[in-house]
Parts: sequence; C-alpha cells; structure tokens
Amino acid sequence: MKILITGGTNGIGKGVAKILAGLDDPKNEIIILCRSEKLGKETIKEFKRTTSNTKISMVLCDLTKLSDVKSAIEEVQSKHKFLDGIFINAGIGYAAKRVETGDGMDSHFQVNYLSQFMLTLGLLNLLEKSENGGRVIFNVTTVKDKIFWDDIQMRNNWSFEKGIHQAMVAKRMFLNKLHNLYQEKKDSRLSFIGFEISETVWSNQVNIIPYFMKTMATLMKWLGQFISVEKCGEIMAPLFIENQKDSLNKSGKIITWKKNDFIVIKEKKDVLNQTLQDKLWEHSIRLCKDEKTSKIAENLCN
Ligand SMILES: NC(=O)c1ccc[n+]([C@@H]2O[C@H](COP(=O)([O-])OP(=O)(O)OC[C@H]3O[C@@H](n4cnc5c(N)ncnc54)[C@H](OP(=O)(O)O)[C@@H]3O)[C@@H](O)[C@H]2O)c1
Repeated sequence: MKILITGGTNGIGKGVAKILAGLDDPKNEIIILCRSEKLGKETIKEFKRTTSNTKISMVLCDLTKLSDVKSAIEEVQSKHKFLDGIFINAGIGYAAKRVETGDGMDSHFQVNYLSQFMLTLGLLNLLEKSENGGRVIFNVTTVKDKIFWDDIQMRNNWSFEKGIHQAMVAKRMFLNKLHNLYQEKKDSRLSFIGFEISETVWSNQVNIIPYFMKTMATLMKWLGQFISVEKCGEIMAPLFIENQKDSLNKSGKIITWKKNDFIVIKEKKDVLNQTLQDKLWEHSIRLCKDEKTSKIAENLCN
C-alpha cells in the first residue's frame, strides 16, 4: 500500500506513519507531507532504522501556503502513478492568538481544512488508479457542528478552540460531499472515512501548550488518560490496509474505536445538510483561486 500522510513528523500522523512503515509487508510505502525538511529527514532516518522499510519519502509543504500545496500536488503527480490512501491529519492545535496566513485566511481554517481540501482534490486521480480501492481517512472530532458562515476567517470572534472545531466540521462536510459524489459514479472504488480517536493522544501539542495546561496534561498522563502516538497508529492502521469492501462499507461515515472494534458515530444534521455542504464546497473552491482545482471540482460535480 502506498499512503501519503499529512503531518507525519509529529503526533498522530507520525504514529500512523510509523506503524504502517513497520508492518511486515515490503510493499508498504509511506510518503510524509511535512513543513520542515529537517524534521522530515530525521523522521525518515528514524523509520528506516527502526522498521527496516526503505520505501519512505517526503514532500515538503507548508499548509499555510496554497502555493506550496500546488507544488506538492505537482511533485506527487510527477513521482507517483497511483496512491492507495491519504491521511488528512496535519493540524494546528493550541495557539495564543489568531494568525492570518499570507493567503489572508485564519491559519486554523487554512492548515487544518482548506489546504488539505485542495490537496485531496488534486490527488483524487491517483487514488482512482489504486488497485486496492483508494481511500482518504480524515482525522476528525465531532464535538461541534457549526460553520461560522458570517465570519469563516474568524476575524471578529476568534479562539483557538473555535478554530479547531470549525475546521473539523468543514472536514466532515467535505468528506461527506466527496462520498456522495463518488456514490453517484458508476463502479466507484473510493472511500472517504472520518476517524475520531476516543482517547486523548500524547502528541507534540504538549510541547506547545502553556505551562499550566502542560501541568494538567502531565497529571492526566499519570492517571492513564493519554495514549501514545504509536498506540493510536496501531488502532488506525487497519483503516489504511483493510480490503476495498470493508473500506467502502465505512465510506461517508465517522467511526471510532471502542471495546476493540470500529463503531459508527451518528453524524450531526447540519453536517449532512447537502445545501450547506454545497455552500462550503463553492466557498472553498473560490478560496483556492486555482484553475486546476476548480476544473477537478467541476468535473466531479458533472
Ligand atoms: N492529540 C489528540 O488527542 C487529538 C485528538 C483528536 C484530534 N486531534 C487532531 O489531530 C490532528 C493532529 O494533532 P496532534 O495531536 O497529532 O498534534 P501535533 O503533534 O502537533 O501534530 C500536528 C502535525 O501537523 C503538522 N503541521 C502543523 N502545521 C503545519 C503546516 N503549516 N504545514 C504542514 N504541516 C503542519 C505538524 O508539523 P510539525 O511536525 O512540523 O510540527 C505535525 O506534524 C489535529 O488536527 C488535532 O486537532 C488530536
């Protein structure tokens, strides 16, 4: 399986990448999309040493820049004839203040959602060429169900929690829209699955949050409230390698892992609302300001 993972140099993405790279299958190939060349090289070195898998590569891409996303799509297209899976995972968590990207967007919105919207659309053709049934797994949470339609870029009413939650809702609407579009296609083999981890993962976020939050987190860790990134990777790995039929059965759904099984979480009404999904879709395409993305979206909808 050839799988591209966004944010594979830390946290959940790194945990999933590590487990997939280490699986006893010489065919497994991992492409890490990351913003830091240094971290990317270190991660590849670490995986090659600990897993003896040599098929690990990286694509540099800072998700705060749509120009980087465009280049990353071109690079993957030029180096790979197919992809079996994409893990849409990279994300900003804690932030002390709102940061506007060079593209004029709220950074949570752009990094956690919009740039990965563009990336996914730009790589769908490679997933369609997968012999195993291409799949996109979205790292999501289901805490909230609202898009701030009047202030999507959160210029007037920002908090980092709101930024995280809005991007999560947008990802869930996007995956559902993609699922519906591919359902309408004859012989579609692609699946779009949201996964919510039911426990808290001890990720790089603990190094970013303020001191008092870190103290709380450390206390919670002692009480066994966290799982490691590797454990999270072990839980999620089957989603990337299971057969096409099992993957298609999960498409369009949000699932979690409880009592040693994948179970479906009921999605909220507003997220499933097709009018709202279309509104977000159109808005996202406009924000990408990219002819190729617009064309792909248009072809998908016709
Ligand atoms: N931890 C949890 O318990 C938990 C639970 C549910 C959902 N989540 C969600 O899971 C996602 C990953 O979180 P995490 O906890 O694993 O956090 P993390 O350890 O901070 O990892 C985030 C990853 O995203 C990458 N990233 C951030 N900004 C980027 C940018 N501009 N361009 C490219 N890559 C960028 C980071 O790159 P660097 O390696 O360069 O920093 C890192 O690899 C987030 O969306 C988070 O909200 C986390």
